[in-house]
Amino acid sequence: MNQDQLKQAVAQAAIDYILPHLEPRSIIGVGTGSTANFFIDLLAQHKYDFAGAVASSEATAERLKNHGISVHDLNSVQELEFYVDGADECNKHLELIKGGGAALTREKIVAAVAKTFICIADVSKKVSVLGEFPLPVEVIPMARSYVARELLKLGGDPVYRTGVVTDNGNVILDVHNMHITDPRGLEEKINGLVGVVCSGLFALRPADVLLLGTSAGVETLVREK
Ligand code: 5RP
Repeated sequence: MNQDQLKQAVAQAAIDYILPHLEPRSIIGVGTGSTANFFIDLLAQHKYDFAGAVASSEATAERLKNHGISVHDLNSVQELEFYVDGADECNKHLELIKGGGAALTREKIVAAVAKTFICIADVSKKVSVLGEFPLPVEVIPMARSYVARELLKLGGDPVYRTGVVTDNGNVILDVHNMHITDPRGLEEKINGLVGVVCSGLFALRPADVLLLGTSAGVETLVREK
């Protein structure tokens, strides 16, 4: 199986996971990226079984609307049973690095609201220690150099992602060479830097379920609470 087939398989597994729970009033949180796109395309086949979706990016909102799925403002949503999204890296504790697609802040907000965060990823994303994938950090533009200096002190090598402006009008620093042995502690430290909007570490709010695509099939990992 190639990587796209693995992404397709985990997207289908997410559909199978949520389908029995969908009701006409259900709103689903939907993530961003190529794996999430497979999910959106499959979700469209069931669009009459639920009320609509909350999107974690403008790109996802556009794709949902193109399929005829109604997109809701998170502020008008009382309850979000599921959030389904991909990841750039995941570990066995279902802690993640996200933000390769620059949508990390909205992704983290939707994940915070959702009762169950289902991460869908192919096996190439699974690591024993997070940090090989450069950690995205969304920063208020005027704080970029200051935050970069502070991230250097935390042991990383921040690189400005040129030409990218997030949906929130901010910039991204990708922090290279982090060997993240304490994801929760690092997330707290980065959150504490003035000018940081959000880091792509999802450790304080990890996934609840990881559907991992392997050549032997889709593995389901559930986080112990
Ligand atoms: C976007 C993300 C994506 O979930 C992450 O980059 C994975 O993308 P893909 O499914 O294309 O590999 O965090 O901000």
